Amino acid sequence: MDERVEVGAGIGVLAREEGAVAQRNLPALRFLTCGSVDDGKSTLIGRLLYDQQLILEDQLAALERDSKKHGTVGKDIDFALLVDGLEAEREQGITIDVAYRAFSTARRSFIVADTPGHEQYTRNMATGASNCDLAILLVDARKGLLAQTHRHATIVSLLGIRHVVLAVNKFDLVDYDQVVFDRIVAEFKAFAAKLDFASLQPIPISARLGDNISDKSGRTPWYRGPALIDYLETIAVEEDLSGLPFRMPVQAVNRPHLDFRGFCGTIASGTIRPGDPVTVAVSGRASHVARIVTADGDLLSAGAGDAVTLTLTDEIDVSRGDIFVPPQARPEVVDQFAATLIWMNDEALLAGRSYLMKIGTRSLPVSITGVKYRLDVTTLGELPAKSLALNEVGFCNLATTAPIAIDPYKENRTTGAFILIDRYSNATVAAGLIAHGLRRATNVHIQDLTVTRESRARLKHQTPAVLWFTGLSGSGKSTIANLVEAQLHARGVHTILLDGDNIRHGLNNDLGFTEADRVENIRRIGEVAKLMTDAGLIVLCAFISPFAADRQMVRDLMNTDEFVEIFVDTPLAECIARDPKGLYKKALAGEIKNFTGVDQDYERPEKPELVLGRSGATPAQSAAQVVAYLVAHQHIERFDDSGDWSI
Ligand code: ADX
Repeated sequence: MDERVEVGAGIGVLAREEGAVAQRNLPALRFLTCGSVDDGKSTLIGRLLYDQQLILEDQLAALERDSKKHGTVGKDIDFALLVDGLEAEREQGITIDVAYRAFSTARRSFIVADTPGHEQYTRNMATGASNCDLAILLVDARKGLLAQTHRHATIVSLLGIRHVVLAVNKFDLVDYDQVVFDRIVAEFKAFAAKLDFASLQPIPISARLGDNISDKSGRTPWYRGPALIDYLETIAVEEDLSGLPFRMPVQAVNRPHLDFRGFCGTIASGTIRPGDPVTVAVSGRASHVARIVTADGDLLSAGAGDAVTLTLTDEIDVSRGDIFVPPQARPEVVDQFAATLIWMNDEALLAGRSYLMKIGTRSLPVSITGVKYRLDVTTLGELPAKSLALNEVGFCNLATTAPIAIDPYKENRTTGAFILIDRYSNATVAAGLIAHGLRRATNVHIQDLTVTRESRARLKHQTPAVLWFTGLSGSGKSTIANLVEAQLHARGVHTILLDGDNIRHGLNNDLGFTEADRVENIRRIGEVAKLMTDAGLIVLCAFISPFAADRQMVRDLMNTDEFVEIFVDTPLAECIARDPKGLYKKALAGEIKNFTGVDQDYERPEKPELVLGRSGATPAQSAAQVVAYLVAHQHIERFDDSGDWSI
């Protein structure tokens, strides 16, 4: 799901002799273990590898040595040291969310998504679990079910993993007492009844001593079920991606010379053959598959998981991010949809903020238009919420800036899943699972207007623009914007000036200066500015607008070249020295909270169209620079040949 997961690093491919010649009538089983190091997660994985003789000799010698030195389990081997050792290595060197370990027994091969069990467990779990068939939920027999167990089970279910093993670990420490097992299992079953699992196998184990791992333990005679390995080797997990409708997100267009135009990608689901009709999901353009090209020659058919290059019988418009689908089973095309979000960032979700959405091979801006509820992962109840904090799960409405093709996650784990990325820090902030598309309320239609924005602008002999002045309080935004407007107005240009302090007295008088309020402040101003450009005006906006994502959101609302970001880059020290409204003094004394530059960040524009205020220019000189920019970019006409704009 997350393209940035470095799968290569940390992979350990180990195969026992007989494993290598295993009769593989069942497909490889992908599973993950959920639980913390304290629950015995590392010990379990270490034990699995050890019992299957998958630990290399030199590792084993080191392990015996280390166990004597650091181990926490007396004279036995501490398997956790093996796995934790790898984990520590991983933490030092490489940034990695998930490591996949592959191993095989005589009967089956396995891929374990090993997610470090620290604070960020939800995030790592969600990333590691997205392509797993089965989850082992670890519970400490002494502690029973914890909030974390509920959370893990809920996320596993949301992610569409339908098979669960409830491994009740450390059973040696509760004297192999059946009563303890029955109680934990009954409690879990009551909870899991509300989740969507196809199978649930509880097993009492001791990962440390090996009870019920590879063989049935003599110490739990009352337990009638299978040993863990036995169960994993034989469980049938039915997922058949080839049976789903064909979906292939286009990763790249390959045009080495004029006679060849191929579209590369990995088939997410379904199968395809030369001659099959295909449609581009969003545009609806249709053609037929001519060839399925691979490095090893052409194929007569290809299916889910295959990386191929398709050529078509017609020249149609296709680019990266498009999805090929069959004409008879097209996905929904929407710009609003509902989805479950698993929030993975320290900074909480901000409704209204623009994030980058990555779905398949496509990236585009999206904003969360509403949080419907937050999921109480212990009771599965719906809690009222406006935001989601780290590790919280919620149901939200989202709106993209352009139509996208979606499938519900329940129907397709590839085309129904996405991630959200913070546009400033580039961090992955959420994993999303699509529920369904949303149609605009049926009684609200976009009205076709006879007088268009172009005709309004033509009447005024100008090309609309938004001059977005951003910078610290006291940097001179309002002063410069005011001068620019006066110059334009004097020359017959139709303008409007929206200024922070003024708007906050009217339209936005319900908003303060928290991050959420500033996002909403800029969102509304962006919408107003958009309406004003529709009216054909040159719109001057002077707002601190400290967050890059919000400025980007306004930019995305406008047509290309319409948005001119003007960074008034007056140093903070200078703004403090000027302190025109005495606000810095108060903020520095702690009397005003969330003051930009004092106790709240200002994110500097990375690629503004214009930077003012660095060279100590006067406001009039800065204003002249803005006007010259407008002329140079043909937003307004030059008024005299001298090009002299001074007033
Ligand atoms: S923005 O950050 O949401 O874009 P905006 O430009 O509308 O801010 O309003 C900023 C103006 O509000 C400042 O010029 C200042 O006069 C006033 N103000 C009051 N409190 C604060 C604060 N905590 N941070 C910044 N500006 C504040």
